[in-house]
Amino acid sequence: MSHTRLSLALDAPEALPTEGRIAVFRPTADTDLSLLPKDRAHLVQGFRPDYDALSARGYTVSPMPEGDYAAAVVFLPRAKAEARALLAAACDGVAPGGPIWVDGMKTDGIDSIIRDVRARLPISDPIAKAHGKIFSFAATPGGLAGWAAQPMTPAEGFTTQPGVFSADAVDRGSALLAACLPDHLPAKMVDLGAGWGWLSAQVLARDGVESLELIEAEHAALECAKQNITDPRVQFTWADVGKVTRDPRPTGAVMNPPFHTSRNADPALGAAFIRAAAGLLSLSGTLWMVANRHLPYEAVLREMFHEVTELTPPTGRDGAFRIFRAERPIAHAAKPGKGAQTPAPTGAKPRRVARTRR
Ligand SMILES: C[S@@+](CC[C@H](N)C(=O)[O-])C[C@H]1O[C@@H](n2cnc3c(N)ncnc32)[C@H](O)[C@@H]1O
Repeated sequence: MSHTRLSLALDAPEALPTEGRIAVFRPTADTDLSLLPKDRAHLVQGFRPDYDALSARGYTVSPMPEGDYAAAVVFLPRAKAEARALLAAACDGVAPGGPIWVDGMKTDGIDSIIRDVRARLPISDPIAKAHGKIFSFAATPGGLAGWAAQPMTPAEGFTTQPGVFSADAVDRGSALLAACLPDHLPAKMVDLGAGWGWLSAQVLARDGVESLELIEAEHAALECAKQNITDPRVQFTWADVGKVTRDPRPTGAVMNPPFHTSRNADPALGAAFIRAAAGLLSLSGTLWMVANRHLPYEAVLREMFHEVTELTPPTGRDGAFRIFRAERPIAHAAKPGKGAQTPAPTGAKPRRVARTRR
């Protein structure tokens, strides 16, 4: 199916220059890009599952803009600071006067971005279609000055940038999980969906940890983690956790899995993370995880691990989050390397979970 707003916008012959590379910011795995010349399109996508899918479709993709462009198309992310940062990057990367097309859903704030850009630069008449709008403006050096991503300090000693998970503060779920970790952890640890690294730093503060691999799909978040953690025991991997295999296998894992792709909670994401963890860990390995209380993960944990225990944080039962320790993956159930984005059905019936402290 064609992208209706893009096809309306690009209908005019002068909509795009006839030569030069076109930067396409934040297309997703299934964005229809058939209206853009494939050999000139340079896709900028830092989320690894989308990056992999777009690469498999034959596009040139990189996690960051590279070099100069003749034009740009920006698919608007929902976080306003991230959207502004992308527009500033496009404004800086496109040759002066080159067109920058901005496409977004109303629910992702396109109207407010139109207002904000219009206050700084002349823009085309927005085209409204299919609950969204598209408009363009000409790249102007310094035209969006002040919109570039500004680093934030969510906790002392940590830096983040707009758009990464919980960029402005330590996630409460991760803090509860850290409070439930034992004083001594297995030697070979992984942090699945490590974000900007706060939970990893708590793991490194425990006894017994000889190595820790941070696996994170969002390139920008992993770059923050690299600044935040300089411990020589650490390795950083930009990957979809569901596609990672390791030999020798890790003996312990922590995770605060993602639970939504866009606006809606999607329990299949966390379930895929649990399967990925079970597939990655050694058969004597242990997973510690936190999840929103309303998400149905206990059945998947029981399907994938021999022993599952719900832990109570030192502050007592939490109304919003549950913390689990899952021990010894079930060998035949754990199949690594499928990709954490792949939703899969849950099989086992839920059983009562023992409640213990730590
Ligand atoms: C709920 S956040 C937790 C982040 C971090 N562990 C923390 O405690 O702040 C989940 C993280 O998983 C990452 N993520 C989402 N899908 C992923 C995937 N398929 N593979 C690896 N990481 C993924 C997200 O980018 C996000 O940083």
